[in-house]
Amino acid sequence: MKNIMEKKEKMEKIKIIKNPVILQNLCIIRDRNTNSQEIRIAARKITRMLLYEASKCLPVTEKTVTTPLASFKTETIDPDINIIISPILRAGLIFTDEAIDILPQACIRHIGMYRDEETLKPVWYYNKVPMKTQNPDKFYVFITDPMLATGNSLIEAIKLYADKQIPLENIKIICLIAAPEGINNIQSKFPEVEIITTAVDSHLNEQGYIVPGMGDAGDRIFNT
Ligand code: URA
Repeated sequence: MKNIMEKKEKMEKIKIIKNPVILQNLCIIRDRNTNSQEIRIAARKITRMLLYEASKCLPVTEKTVTTPLASFKTETIDPDINIIISPILRAGLIFTDEAIDILPQACIRHIGMYRDEETLKPVWYYNKVPMKTQNPDKFYVFITDPMLATGNSLIEAIKLYADKQIPLENIKIICLIAAPEGINNIQSKFPEVEIITTAVDSHLNEQGYIVPGMGDAGDRIFNT
């Protein structure tokens, strides 16, 4: 019974967002013949939908708005919260422009890590996360990386924010494609962190690439 409950809780923390528009754009992104510009355009369209899903966790507050016809009480995103978009360089940048358009009050805190090709462990080279967090409960963090592969870089990124006492429920991982190995890795360390993706693929190959995946996301997005 305990195992079933644990499994249910883990499933609830993975949101696989699927609709015909996402499926169509995911096909474009995965196709080996798609060029970088087309990948970037398709990724932007998907980002919008992932961000809308992630933003469901943001608290709202009452606001009075005056339309040309009347004043009325409605709701809006609480202006007293801090929203952070945290792209893992470099591929995570693909979400940034669209994300800041959707949530203009957010700040972008870049995290630079590359993957050691032999150990598949993340190597730090940039960290824009040091900041004051007087009211950590009021922080909401969306960490972006198109590929959740081993999950090692994302775990390092989550730690940065967890160390600042930001509630793990306020931290979301936003990715395009996830591997089961990476999901398990993250959930074994941070089961409270929600993962929002559009697909969970078959497996990782020996080089740590997601199969079928989209290949090297950074290379494909930035035409390198
Ligand atoms: N990073 C990528 O760019 N692609 C993968 O398949 C896995 C990690």
